[in-house]
Amino acid sequence: MKKIQLIVGARPNFMKIAPLYRELEKKKDIFKVSLIHTGQHYDEKMSELFFDDLEMPKPDVYLNVGSGTHGEQTARIIERYEEFILSSTPPDLVVVAGDVNSTFACALVAKKLCIPVAHLEAGLRSYDERMPEEINRVLTDRISDILLTPSIDANKNLEKEGIDPKKIFFVGNIMIDSLVEQLEKAKKSKIKKTLGLDNDEQYILTTLHRPSNVDEREGLKTILYAFAEIGKSIKIIFPMHPRTQKNIDRLGLAEMVENTPGLLISEPIGYHDFIKMEMEASLVLTDSGGIQEETTYFGIPCLTLRENTERPITITQGTNQLVQLDTESIVNATLDVLKRKRKKRTVPKFWDGKTGERVVEVIVRYFDEEKSSY
Ligand code: UD1
Ligand code: UDP
Repeated sequence: MKKIQLIVGARPNFMKIAPLYRELEKKKDIFKVSLIHTGQHYDEKMSELFFDDLEMPKPDVYLNVGSGTHGEQTARIIERYEEFILSSTPPDLVVVAGDVNSTFACALVAKKLCIPVAHLEAGLRSYDERMPEEINRVLTDRISDILLTPSIDANKNLEKEGIDPKKIFFVGNIMIDSLVEQLEKAKKSKIKKTLGLDNDEQYILTTLHRPSNVDEREGLKTILYAFAEIGKSIKIIFPMHPRTQKNIDRLGLAEMVENTPGLLISEPIGYHDFIKMEMEASLVLTDSGGIQEETTYFGIPCLTLRENTERPITITQGTNQLVQLDTESIVNATLDVLKRKRKKRTVPKFWDGKTGERVVEVIVRYFDEEKSSY
C-alpha cells in the first residue's frame, strides 16, 4: 500500500487536485490518499465552497497558515508541513499542483525529507521573474521527481533547462477534467438570476488579482478607467478576489468603482457559478492563469491583461490574446473583439477530461519501476 499526500492551498489548486483525488480513490487497494490543505486561502468563498462544488471530502489535515508576506507565508507552510510529516508516517509520494506558494513550500519539505515529489502542471514558463509564480514554478520543477505537463511546450521548456526527459510526462490539462466533470451541474447554476442578469443578456466577465495589476494605484486605475469606458456599452461582471477588494479599499478607489455605470461587483463566486458565467460570456477579461485555459476550452474570447503568459498555447491554438496595459489599448481590444467574428480554436491535445487517469498510470509505473530497481 502506497501512501500519497495531495497538497492544496489556494483556489486554483482545488480544481487541479479534485480529479486526481477521485482517480486515485478508484485504486484504494494500492493507494492510501490523504488531502493536506495548507490554509493559504481560507475565506469560505476562496476555499470551502470548492470542496462542495468539486465533490471533494474535507481535508485530512489543515495547516491553517493564512496570509502574510511571501517569506512569512512560505516559511509557515514549510514549518507546519514538515512538523506534520515528522509527527506521522511519512508518505511515499507528495503531489503538488500549479505555482502558488503552497506548491513550492510543500515540494521543498518533501524533497528534503527524501520523499518523492510529483508536480502537476509542470513546465509552464512566463520567463518573467517579477512574477512570484515563475519562481515557484522553476524551483518546484527543479526538485520534482515526476513532472506532469499540460502541453508540449512545457516539455520543451523543461528539456531546455536540462531536466532528465525520463522524469517528464505529457499528461494534459487536469483543470479540464474538473470542467468536464462539473459541466452539467454548472449549466444549471442560477447565478445569472442572482446577479440580476436577463437570460440572454450580453456581458463581459472579468477577474483580476495579479500584484502587478492590483497592488499599485496607477496600474489599478488604468484598468478601472478602461472598465468605465467599456461599461457604457456592455455590463461587466466582476467577482472580486480578496486581494483586489482590499487594495481598492486601501487605495481609496471604492467610490470610483461603485460609481462606474455597467460595472457589477460581487464577492468571488463558486466553481459551478463561475463556469456558467464563463461559458456564456461575450468576452472574458482576466489576469488569471486558469481562466485563460478554460476560455480556450469553451471557445470564448479572452483578453489577458498581462505582458506575457506561461500558457502560450492558449494564444497559438486557443482564443486568448495579450493586451497592452494602458486604458486605450484595453478599451480598443475589447470593443474590437466584441465586434469581430469569434476566432476558431482547437482544443489542445489531452485537454480531454482524462488527465487524471493518465497521471495515475504514471504514478503506478513509477512505483513499479522503483520496486523492480530494488
Ligand atoms: C495566490 C497565488 C497566485 C494565484 C492566486 C489564486 C502565490 C504567490 N500567489 O495569490 O499565484 O493566482 O492565489 O487566487 O501563491 N486573502 C483573503 N482571504 C483569503 C485569501 C487571501 O482575504 O482567503 C487576501 C489577504 O489579504 C492576502 C491576499 O488576499 O494577503 C493575497 O493572498 P495570497 O494567498 O498571498 O495571494 P493571492 O493574491 O491570493
Ligand atoms: N474561479 C471561480 N470563482 C471565481 C473566480 C475564479 O471558481 O470567482 C475559478 C476559475 O473557474 C478557475 C480558477 O478559479 O478554475 C482560477 O483560479 P484563480 O484565477 O484564482 O488562479 P490562477 O489560475 O490565476 O492561479
